[in-house]
Amino acid sequence: MDRLLIEGGARLDGELRASGAKNSASVMFAAALLADDPVIITNVPHLRDITTMIELLGSLGVEVVIDEKMNVEIHANTIKRFTAPYDLVKTMRASFNVLGPMLAHYGQAEVSLPGGCAIGPRPVDQHLRGLEALGAKIEMEDGYVKAKVDKRLKGARIYFDISTVGGTEHIMMAATLAEGETVLENCAREPEIVDLADCLNAMGAQVEGAGTDTITIQGVERLGGCEHRVIADRVETGTYLIAAAATGGRVKVRDTNPAHLDLLLNKLKEAGAEISLGDEWIELDMKGERPRAISLVTAPYPEFPTDLQAQIIALNCVAEGTGTIKETVFENRFMHVHEMNRMGANIRLEDNNTIAIVEGVDHLKGAPVMANDLRASVSLVIAGLVAEGTTVVDRIYHIDRGYEQVEEKLSNLGASIKRVASS
Ligand code: UD1
Repeated sequence: MDRLLIEGGARLDGELRASGAKNSASVMFAAALLADDPVIITNVPHLRDITTMIELLGSLGVEVVIDEKMNVEIHANTIKRFTAPYDLVKTMRASFNVLGPMLAHYGQAEVSLPGGCAIGPRPVDQHLRGLEALGAKIEMEDGYVKAKVDKRLKGARIYFDISTVGGTEHIMMAATLAEGETVLENCAREPEIVDLADCLNAMGAQVEGAGTDTITIQGVERLGGCEHRVIADRVETGTYLIAAAATGGRVKVRDTNPAHLDLLLNKLKEAGAEISLGDEWIELDMKGERPRAISLVTAPYPEFPTDLQAQIIALNCVAEGTGTIKETVFENRFMHVHEMNRMGANIRLEDNNTIAIVEGVDHLKGAPVMANDLRASVSLVIAGLVAEGTTVVDRIYHIDRGYEQVEEKLSNLGASIKRVASS
């Protein structure tokens, strides 16, 4: 198992390119199962979660061709099996979303209940309720969801009880091949949902309203192939901006979309950052200053993303003043806090572990740390960058799930970071 070794203290300074969004690309691989012709997805990041999705498609017998630029061509009509096994689905929750597309296209699917990050129970009730409303017959057996439909799914009006990104995407995909109209209400509005709708429409689907809370889908009889470029990863972009701000540094992120990071950019300005923007780039400059503490509440888009909460806590650890962070999207998403306290941070959890109050300290001290979720792991890397001495971040397979070439990108910005194999 690899670890990251970080010598703290360097001020980040330089430029980098944002990778394609993991959360868009992975669900588009599931969407490709709806098509009769090859679907080509470009700007795909080279990540473990993507490899897992490719393996999953492979296990269904689907041919996938990848070129050296990570353009991925998926030939869904070569499918031979309709069962997505536990071994693959457990490592990545988004892979559960192959259920709806397989069912809508082929009338049958068996998919293991998901695993994914260790952040709360993360149920799939909204997914299953949505598919049932579209006419699916669903049984649970030995940890598998077994779904069937006679002929086609049927359009329906479905109201989501909570804002769910994966649930909205899942039912939106399934409804594209249903008979008649589907209206989805109280939908999540994340940019990745809009990106997925654009991809589906390029395949010949008729999806309207993605990015608002009501999505209307006119079902079509078949979907064809398309070529679609994945949007920039807003969470990766945000992570590097926060890392630069925490170190008092400067960074320019290219090939990204500033419109997707409005709230973060405002928060970073509150922290004292100077921000300049172009159509496809963001530059942040702290001019060597210590950041001021940030307070925020995480909530579904367009509010502050839960996927950037841990990184902001890392910044707050060394900021001037006290920041209060409330997590409302996931239960149990403050596991990084205990590791940061071991590095000398002053964070206390309140209100049944839903609020973290961070009193900034002058310095963190390097330590061996580990985390068991993707964003928590990268927040420990940021903590390592601002700590005195050496930090060893263990279990970085979590980081490899979602951050392309993290040590190369950070080294290019001047960080002292290297990957070592655990003995
Ligand atoms: C997606 C993102 C993840 C991000 C999250 C919230 C992908 C691959 N992952 O995850 O990075 O942190 O959105 O922005 O896109 N819930 C239910 N029942 C359901 C579905 C969800 O109760 O059927 C709950 C979850 O437990 C959670 C909340 O709803 O508390 C939000 O989850 P959801 O938006 O579905 O997250 P994901 O799609 O899994």
